[in-house]
Amino acid sequence: MNYHVLTLFPEMVLQGLNTSIIGRAMEKGLISIEAIDIREFSSDKHKRVDDYPYGGGAGMVMQAEPVYKAYQWIAEQIQEKNMNHKKPRVIYVTPQGSLFHQNTAKEYAEEEDLIFLCGHYEGIDERVLDMIVTDYVSIGDYVLTGGELPAMVMIDAISRLIPGVLNNDVSAEFESLQDNLLEYPQYTRPENFMGQTVPEVLLSGHHANIDTWRRQQSILRTHQRRPELLEEANLSKKERAFLEQLQKDC
Ligand code: ADE
Repeated sequence: MNYHVLTLFPEMVLQGLNTSIIGRAMEKGLISIEAIDIREFSSDKHKRVDDYPYGGGAGMVMQAEPVYKAYQWIAEQIQEKNMNHKKPRVIYVTPQGSLFHQNTAKEYAEEEDLIFLCGHYEGIDERVLDMIVTDYVSIGDYVLTGGELPAMVMIDAISRLIPGVLNNDVSAEFESLQDNLLEYPQYTRPENFMGQTVPEVLLSGHHANIDTWRRQQSILRTHQRRPELLEEANLSKKERAFLEQLQKDC
């Protein structure tokens, strides 16, 4: 997976992603992250990339030309490298986009190249967005100062789904939000922490019982914290009966 981030703050993106698991994935060559400085594509002698909005109003708008040139530069390289004319996906991170979800991460993890476009100020000239953007994506209903953090959030979520990025591939499958259920609680040594003990079943060595207990804890936790997720969860008959009992009890 090769990520190409169009940004005014390339060092923010690179420094934010070069540690821990994502940093190791880069070292191993499983992913690459390139940050392209939009400012370098400005034809203004002061390298300006923003201007006042037509029609007035607060703030500045990023101009179409430097964004378009930066996009063209990278899109051409990607097309040459892949020896095809398939246009790479361009994700504009914006609070006006559709919400990023685990399933979105899974879908993006199938791509070979992804371009992220990060805006600043009051946004980007609509004309260049119309020309290059394929996906408008938000990470939540709140407004940040720029698109770099959302792009980094998405890159992290996508990368951990790429084979080899996590040490054990199993843990990418059995985790929060897979199957629309939250993850069950986890415990490690010591067995007794300030008088609080580990649930008996986890010490039993009985794997079938442990699996059942964990599924039930996942359902219980989802019911308590994110009940709306359960509408799309895949539950067995027994699990559905367990959930109906929980719903009756509250
Ligand atoms: N840019 C500013 N806020 C954002 C958000 N919530 N999601 C994606 N991009 C953004």
